[in-house]
Amino acid sequence: MINDLWYKNALIYCINVESFMDTNGDGCGDFEGLMRRLDYLAGLGVTCIWLLPFYPSPRRDDGYDITDYYGVDPRYGTAGDFVEFINQARERGIRVIVDLVINHTSIDHPWFKHARRDPHSKYRDWYVWSKKRPRSWNKGMVFPGVQKSTWSWDSEARAYYFHRFYDFQPDLNTTNPEVRTEIKRIIGYWLELGVSGFRVDALPFVISEKGPNIGHPPPLDFEFLRELRLFLQWRQGDAVFLAEANVLPDQDLEYFGNNDDRAQLMFNFFVNQNLFYGLASGDARPLTVALRRTRQRPMTAQWAHFLRNNDELDLGRLTEKQRQRVFAEFGPDKTMQLYGRGIRRRLAPMLSDERRRIEVAYSLMFTLPGTPVIRYGDEIGMGDDLRLPERQCARTPMQWSTEAHAGFTTAKKPVLPIIDEPIYGYQRINAADQKRDPESLLNWTERIIRARKECPEIGWGDWKIVATGSPNVIAIRYDWRDTSFLAVHNLDAKPHRIRLAAGKLVNLLSDDHSEGDEQGVHRLAIEGYGYRWYRVGGLDHILKRKRE
Ligand code: NOJ
Ligand code: CA
Repeated sequence: MINDLWYKNALIYCINVESFMDTNGDGCGDFEGLMRRLDYLAGLGVTCIWLLPFYPSPRRDDGYDITDYYGVDPRYGTAGDFVEFINQARERGIRVIVDLVINHTSIDHPWFKHARRDPHSKYRDWYVWSKKRPRSWNKGMVFPGVQKSTWSWDSEARAYYFHRFYDFQPDLNTTNPEVRTEIKRIIGYWLELGVSGFRVDALPFVISEKGPNIGHPPPLDFEFLRELRLFLQWRQGDAVFLAEANVLPDQDLEYFGNNDDRAQLMFNFFVNQNLFYGLASGDARPLTVALRRTRQRPMTAQWAHFLRNNDELDLGRLTEKQRQRVFAEFGPDKTMQLYGRGIRRRLAPMLSDERRRIEVAYSLMFTLPGTPVIRYGDEIGMGDDLRLPERQCARTPMQWSTEAHAGFTTAKKPVLPIIDEPIYGYQRINAADQKRDPESLLNWTERIIRARKECPEIGWGDWKIVATGSPNVIAIRYDWRDTSFLAVHNLDAKPHRIRLAAGKLVNLLSDDHSEGDEQGVHRLAIEGYGYRWYRVGGLDHILKRKRE
């Protein structure tokens, strides 16, 4: 079998150009800066960069409010810089995927300006209108508490327009054939410039029916997703969609399709939330259930696993009791919580900067059935700035060194404040110091990524949960071709003794291998927040079984 599906074992790293590295001293990150840091990313083991929106935008929602789909915001550089960046990334074997934000535009987009000004403009029907205020005008907000409605009055158009997100993000009418054609043009454009695919923003909303009289939940048009996928792959065979769809497991297969015809990759929000519950409570059982419930996917499809992303940690799929447990442990203050459903902090502060806990969280995430996605700054354990509004708190500039402004910029005023405080400040947490320290989180992350790459079973193989006899310790075994891999994680602060059955266990991260007894039963003591990566001596075991 030839394994061409690059995304099955990729290491995806999420970057906001704005806060990564500034080179021209205007306080704002740029493509030139990103290019200068490509060797850092290659050294870390990154194989794919996911760029958050970098298109022209008033940036009232961090660039998810676009005014031109065919450009680069001049603050970050030129289209020429973008193409040069793609080229330099490719030189290092790094692919690039970009955000595809097609559910809505900015209210300042020329399309919307035409649409609101002129009822006869072809752009009028590119958006979603209602003469009367729809009954559901204050239902279905994505940002409750901040966003007041999903329909707003536009005095110029003399009509209400629909916006699933903020009122400055009018929804595109994605049923309009011209809009669909335009979306394909956008996809085609960035493919020509060398990207390997798209992180599809807000996919469920893109494919939902929109309008004043749509019921709840709205009907979804998966045929449209199929249409986009066919177009994508016709233009470029190895290009992918990475879907942002925080849906319940019974809908997963609709998004993946069953005929290689929808999204290749999808973020596993369901597992993510149960993983955080596991980290908060020490109880690994709900995570096990979540893994089983999201087990099914077509052969060519893949889960994308992550710990934190650019948004709040959304806990909306947990039970009320579970959610309260995670809040109590990781976000007890109201200022840490957001939209009534999530926590807006970065990972390290949630885990009280406790190294063993950070390690077990990442180690576990890296061994889940899928492709890992990490976020800039998490590899050095960056913190957050809760004085900043909403999700901005976890988007502060990358901390490169102990130089002024963390080496991010030479400007007087960076685009967002640099974290400057005793625990998470750049004087203590920065990449330069960590590079020099073999025991740093950065070097640990680099090693664990290397180990992950040497375990292709995780991306390709079949997996099963192996009984450990402890509710706190989760063991996942992968089998692929002739090799097997076993990952064991103790989510509890206390040590636990476990029993599990497997062949000879060779520890990939340290020397404590385990032979097991005559029956192949291993009795292991796993320290609090301990983790083990084992290669299972498959061949010996199989031969032995055959002889018996
Ligand atoms: C999801 C993005 O991750 C988030 O940051 C944004 O606000 C919404 N989609 C709207 O585009
Ligand atoms: Ca700059």
